Amino acid sequence: MASEQYPLLWLLLISIIISIISLPCASLDSISANQTLSGEQLLSSSGGNFVLGFLPIGTNSSQRFYIGIWYNKVSERTPVWLANRAKPVSNPSTSVLQISSQDGNLVLLDQSKSLVWSTNITTTSSTSNSTVAVLLDTGNLVLRDGTNNSSKILWQSFDNPTHTWLPGGKLAFNKVTGKSQQLASWKNSEDPTPGLFSLEIDPDGTSQYIIQWNNSRSYWSSGLWNGQIFNLVPEMTSNYIYNFSYVNNSQENYFIYYVKDENIISRFIMDVSGQIKMLTWVPASGSWILFWSQPRQQCEVFAICGPFGSCNENALPYCNCVKGFRQKFPEDWALSDQSGGCERNTPLQCNTGNNSSANVDQDKFFEMDNVRLPDNPQALQVGSLDECELACLNNCSCTAYSYESGCSLWFGDLLNLQEQYGSGTGGGTLYLRLAASELPTQKSQKNMVVGIVTGVVAACLLCGAIVWVLVWRRRKKALLNASKTMESGLMAFRYSDLQRVTKNFTQKLGEGGFGSVFKGVLPDSTAIAVKKLEGLRQGEKQFRTEVSTIGTIQHVNLVRLRGFCTEGTNRLLVYDYMPNGSLDTLLFSSKTSPKVLNWKTRYQIALGTARGLYYLHEKCRDCIIHCDIKPENILLDDSFVPKVADFGLAKLMGRDFSRVLTTMRGTRGYLAPEWITGVAITAKADVYSYGMMLFEIISGMRNSEQVGEGRGAFFPTRAAGKLIEGDAFSLLDTKLEGDANPEEVTRVCRVACWCIQDDETLRPTMGQVVQILEGVLEVDVPPIPRSLQILSENPPENIIFFSDLSSNPSSQMQTYTSDSSQNKTTSSTSSGNPS
Ligand SMILES: *[C@@H]1O[C@H](CO)[C@@H](O)[C@H](O)[C@H]1NC(C)=O
Ligand SMILES: *[C@@H]1O[C@H](CO)[C@@H](O)[C@H](O)[C@H]1NC(C)=O
Ligand SMILES: *[C@@H]1O[C@H](CO)[C@@H](O)[C@H](O)[C@H]1NC(C)=O
Ligand SMILES: *[C@@H]1O[C@H](CO)[C@@H](O)[C@H](O)[C@H]1NC(C)=O
Ligand SMILES: *[C@@H]1O[C@H](CO)[C@@H](O)[C@H](O)[C@H]1NC(C)=O
Ligand SMILES: *[C@@H]1O[C@H](CO)[C@@H](O)[C@H](O)[C@H]1NC(C)=O
Ligand SMILES: *[C@@H]1O[C@H](CO)[C@@H](O)[C@H](O)[C@H]1NC(C)=O
Ligand SMILES: *[C@@H]1O[C@H](CO)[C@@H](O)[C@H](O)[C@H]1NC(C)=O
Ligand SMILES: *[C@@H]1O[C@H](CO)[C@@H](O)[C@H](O)[C@H]1NC(C)=O
Ligand SMILES: *[C@@H]1O[C@H](CO)[C@@H](O)[C@H](O)[C@H]1NC(C)=O
Ligand SMILES: *[C@@H]1O[C@H](CO)[C@@H](O)[C@H](O)[C@H]1NC(C)=O
Ligand SMILES: *[C@@H]1O[C@H](CO)[C@@H](O)[C@H](O)[C@H]1NC(C)=O
Repeated sequence: MASEQYPLLWLLLISIIISIISLPCASLDSISANQTLSGEQLLSSSGGNFVLGFLPIGTNSSQRFYIGIWYNKVSERTPVWLANRAKPVSNPSTSVLQISSQDGNLVLLDQSKSLVWSTNITTTSSTSNSTVAVLLDTGNLVLRDGTNNSSKILWQSFDNPTHTWLPGGKLAFNKVTGKSQQLASWKNSEDPTPGLFSLEIDPDGTSQYIIQWNNSRSYWSSGLWNGQIFNLVPEMTSNYIYNFSYVNNSQENYFIYYVKDENIISRFIMDVSGQIKMLTWVPASGSWILFWSQPRQQCEVFAICGPFGSCNENALPYCNCVKGFRQKFPEDWALSDQSGGCERNTPLQCNTGNNSSANVDQDKFFEMDNVRLPDNPQALQVGSLDECELACLNNCSCTAYSYESGCSLWFGDLLNLQEQYGSGTGGGTLYLRLAASELPTQKSQKNMVVGIVTGVVAACLLCGAIVWVLVWRRRKKALLNASKTMESGLMAFRYSDLQRVTKNFTQKLGEGGFGSVFKGVLPDSTAIAVKKLEGLRQGEKQFRTEVSTIGTIQHVNLVRLRGFCTEGTNRLLVYDYMPNGSLDTLLFSSKTSPKVLNWKTRYQIALGTARGLYYLHEKCRDCIIHCDIKPENILLDDSFVPKVADFGLAKLMGRDFSRVLTTMRGTRGYLAPEWITGVAITAKADVYSYGMMLFEIISGMRNSEQVGEGRGAFFPTRAAGKLIEGDAFSLLDTKLEGDANPEEVTRVCRVACWCIQDDETLRPTMGQVVQILEGVLEVDVPPIPRSLQILSENPPENIIFFSDLSSNPSSQMQTYTSDSSQNKTTSSTSSGNPS
């Protein structure tokens, strides 16, 4: 018995000894020759911004440890650098980080004292064992000569980044070695091993940054440095919390950035999604807020869904397998790593060695319309679609063909396929080869249809009476439900009832940050929209309280909440159904669409939306900030009266806006700059988003889509310039063919420009916006928002109006330059003299 306790005692003794000779406490910021770091010991940078230690990552966290650097002041442990990202150790208490006595390198040894990781510099004899590793307050770990008090850096983590690019760090191209430093994404959300996506400065020596897939295929470029910004990243100017510069000297060229306010914690990462992202820590919400990412669209990331996966920008998740295929590694897919792609449910007939001429079903082709055709087609000179098909059928490794402007065949894996790809942008029809059994023959389909029709008719004839009785009963049931309304007038629905009225959630209307929306029809034949909330961790009582608050908010320009359902983990909201859908579909519909919203309707939508927001901000009991104003959230009823949707949900879903923001696609342009600075968000953030939306109502196009496509400047910038020129009318959507009231266009444009001022005190309130649009208040020419102004000084297309601005300031300009802080909106009586 006693002998069993001795080893324990020994262990205790040893660990006491170790802790005495190693780091005494967490306050040290360096490791020198006679010190080690293991177990739960930490290095802490002198100012306390960063700590270094053993970091567990992944679900089986007790299994995998990395030497990592993370933020000390961020509650969510966020690594910014990892030493052994591809070689974790299993036990931190027996692993040590120390200065090697042989060569002065900082090394990580595992329990068997074998080398896991090393700074791996070739040292000179003078520095052999006198080096010291210091964790700096910038998050940089540096190795330098300790004895000679030398500041010469032998090695630093900033030169060996993992997936995070911290302020003050650089991703350089070394002209001497011809190598570029890379940021590489994680393999998946729980494995920091380098994944397929990487960012680096062009190794061919130009000034642009590129993102590559598998170090071979570039799918995004920043554009060349034009002296101020990167050409294809006009948004850089609105990142006004940063200062940055581009360095090009004899050794290297690189871009470097700093955060101006040292209290702001911001980082730049190469994400597993294949996008680069700028994230800022917002202490108030306790989360990282994403405010910028590129490529803007998830599906622009090359081969994001892997072989035989297809990307769909309008679906969540974005990736799915094409017909006849299933996920090859579902456990990787669950961790956002789709690189393994999909595999066939049924092997091709051809590949089973069976004769295609034999009397068995041949392989068939499945038609996929409106897709972005896969990568790497092989052209074939044949004259018709049928010959093209035959050519594919006759080669067992041919997996698909298309016949657009000629015959193209694909062999092997299909990569980079995208569905619901806009027509006229290079999309086409793909014929995908599948085993015959995956595709029901037309004959059997016909039979099925006949069967269904017969069945339905029979059912109708035979069971008419019973159906009638059932309907009658359901109505009665619904009436019973209605009696369960709460004091706020909301109806409490049963889950099973909602399941029934939505035909088991089959008619999907859309998908947003909070969940999917389905159409349903109540027994009294009123149409409803049912929103299934996702990711809600609230208790039932709290949910009911919040919902009943939302239920009391009623206005003609707000979507009415009819009821809700809370059963088990299900949380659903039931709204009035809006037959004309959301504003984005009407506004941004393709050129071919016959339906164009006329100007009068657009003006009414702008005004109605403003009234709805005004009510939310100032008229209801608790002021509600919407936080997510964008055309997708403006719904239209049968007479095109706008109704703001999704209000109150930001509050209901908790303060964690990152969820909303990170699932937003292409809508970052609506976010006010204060979102990134971490200051308190006020109703003026909604005003900003509303302004951005107004520009889109004028132009009929997304602001974000008008950059870098030969159209010149960012639309709001161009608009601000045109306003000063007095030519706002030329900004009008060309689809309207000039059919609009010029005075109204100018007014809307001015309001929009006031709304997007950087300084939130300059922006009008929604109440003022309503008055301006009603024509009660006059509005002056707004100044160009500062962030837009810097932007437009650069691209050549915009130089004209700025030189106009500086050379011959007109009286209009004096109006706003003389007193822009107070009188952005002056009432009609006092508009002439803003004292
Ligand atoms: C480690 O070495 C430094 C000098 O290199 C010395 O000042 C310090 O006392 C040593 N610490 C221990 C615990 O031996
Ligand atoms: C997690 O660890 C358990 C045992 O500790 C193991 O059975 C399981 O396979 C591990 N899971 C993964 C995903 O590594
Ligand atoms: C160290 O660098 C040398 C070349 O400089 C390389 O061959 C070796 O693999 C590296 N070792 C480690 C552990 O990175
Ligand atoms: C450093 O190296 C020198 C010889 O190169 C040796 O005499 C000395 O003991 C070493 N010091 C330590 C702390 O290992
Ligand atoms: C210390 O640095 C000086 C110059 O900075 C150099 O001349 C000297 O050789 C160095 N000493 C050692 C021991 O490396
Ligand atoms: C190292 O530099 C610091 C100040 O930079 C000085 O106080 C210290 O005396 C120097 N030590 C040696 C050994 O030169
Ligand atoms: C660096 O500067 C040189 C000369 O000024 C110029 O020729 C070269 O194109 C620049 N390279 C980059 C990558 O900016
Ligand atoms: C990436 O490229 C390497 C060769 O450079 C290749 O072996 C590997 O299969 C590629 N990975 C994928 C997922 O295609
Ligand atoms: C940016 O600001 C920091 C501190 O405010 C300053 O040290 C740095 O030199 C500036 N960098 C550039 C590129 O302007
Ligand atoms: C060839 O086809 C026949 C009939 O469909 C099937 O039974 C047989 O397994 C196939 N042969 C191979 C090698 O798959
Ligand atoms: C394919 O079918 C032909 C006749 O239809 C036959 O002669 C040939 O042996 C078959 N080949 C294979 C691989 O089954
Ligand atoms: C099928 O096509 C591939 C690629 O063009 C070619 O290499 C192969 O020889 C073809 N196989 C047959 C049987 O024609």
